Amino acid sequence: MKILAIETSCDETGIAVVEGTKTEHGFAFQVLGSTLLSQAQLHAEYGGVYPTLAKREHEKNLPVIFKDALAAADLSMHDVDAIAVTHGPGLEPALWSGIVFAQELAKETDKPLLPVNHMEGHLISSLVKGGELEHVHMPVLALLISGGHTEFIVMRDWFQYEKIGETLDDAVGEAFDKVARMLGLPYPGGPEISKLAQYARGQNLRSQAKLPRPMLQSGNCNVSFSGLKTAALYALRDMGGVQKLSADEVAAFAREFEDTVGDVFVAKTRAALVESDAKTFVIGGGVAANAHLRERLVEIVRDEFPDVEVRLPELSITGDNAIMIAEAALAHLLAGDWPLETPQGELRAVGNLSLA
Ligand code: KG4
Ligand code: ZN
Repeated sequence: MKILAIETSCDETGIAVVEGTKTEHGFAFQVLGSTLLSQAQLHAEYGGVYPTLAKREHEKNLPVIFKDALAAADLSMHDVDAIAVTHGPGLEPALWSGIVFAQELAKETDKPLLPVNHMEGHLISSLVKGGELEHVHMPVLALLISGGHTEFIVMRDWFQYEKIGETLDDAVGEAFDKVARMLGLPYPGGPEISKLAQYARGQNLRSQAKLPRPMLQSGNCNVSFSGLKTAALYALRDMGGVQKLSADEVAAFAREFEDTVGDVFVAKTRAALVESDAKTFVIGGGVAANAHLRERLVEIVRDEFPDVEVRLPELSITGDNAIMIAEAALAHLLAGDWPLETPQGELRAVGNLSLA
C-alpha cells in the first residue's frame, strides 16, 4: 500500500511517498520518494516561526515538491492508494495550507484523504527500526520533545494513548531556542546549543552560572521550563550580559543549560518508566536529535531498567517531515484500524490537537 503524505504544521514543507507492507511481526516501510524544504533560514530573522509567512511559503513550495516527490518515487498519483495530511497540532495557518492542497489533490484524483496527528507521526516513526515496525513490546513509553510539545505518552495497545506527564508551560525546544537567542545564537537554537555544549564538554569548560533543576521534587512526570529560561536570563545578567562573556564562557553556559535539561529528563523518565511499567522507551520530535539527551536517556534505561528496550529515531527523521506522517497513516491502515474505502469527512486544522 502506498501513501502520499503532506506535512506543513510548522516551518518544514514535506511530501513523501511511502510504501507499507505487513510482515510476520508487524509492518515494513519503504520510502519511495521524499522532499523536504526548510524555511528555518527565512524565519531566523524573526527569531522564531512567523505563521503567515510560513503559510505563504508552504503554498509556494507544495506544488513544486509534490512533483519532486512523485518524480523521486518514479510514480504518478495513479499508483498511490491514499493521501495523508497533518491536521494538527501546529500553527493553524501553516496546517491549512497542507490541508487545502491535500483536499484539492484528493478531489482531483479521487483518493481517500486521511488526517494524521503530527505527534503520532513523531511517535510511530521513532519506533521504526531499520524500516521495520516490528516486535514492539507494550506498554510503550514515549517522550515527545519538540518546539511546541513536551509530553510523556503511554501506548498500552496500538494507537491507544494516555498522557502521564507534560510541560506546564514552555516546550523544551522552545527553551533551547530562547536560551540560544539570549546567547546570540541563530534560530533554531537547539542544534547550536548542542554544538557549543559538546565543545565545552570536550574542553572541560564549566560555567560559573548554576541553573536550577526545575520540578525534580514534584513527584510526578510533569516538567516546566519557563523558570529555567528566566533563571538563564538572570544568570547572564549577573555575569554582566552575554557581550561580556568569552566564546568559551558562552559554550560553558550552553553546557550548563543542556546538563540541566538532561538532569530533568533523566529524573522524569525514571518516574515515567516506573509509573507506566513500560517495556519499550522511545523518544521523538525535533529535540530527540540532541546527542547529550540521547546518551543520558540510553544510559539511565540501561543502568536502571535493563529489561526496557530503547528505540531512538534516526537523525534524518527527528525534525518535522512527511515520512513520519505517511508511516503513522500506514500503521493505522495496515493494522486495519482505519478504513481505506471511504474518504473521511471535511478536514480542518486543529492547532491544539492532542494525542491523549
Ligand atoms: O519537531 P520539530 O522539528 O518541530 C516541532 O514540531 O516543533 O522540533 C523543532 C525543535 C526546535 O525547537 C529546535 O531547536 C529543536 O527541535 N532541536 C534541537 C536539536 N535539533 C532540533 N534541540 C536540541 N538539540 C538538538 N540537536
Ligand atoms: Zn514536530
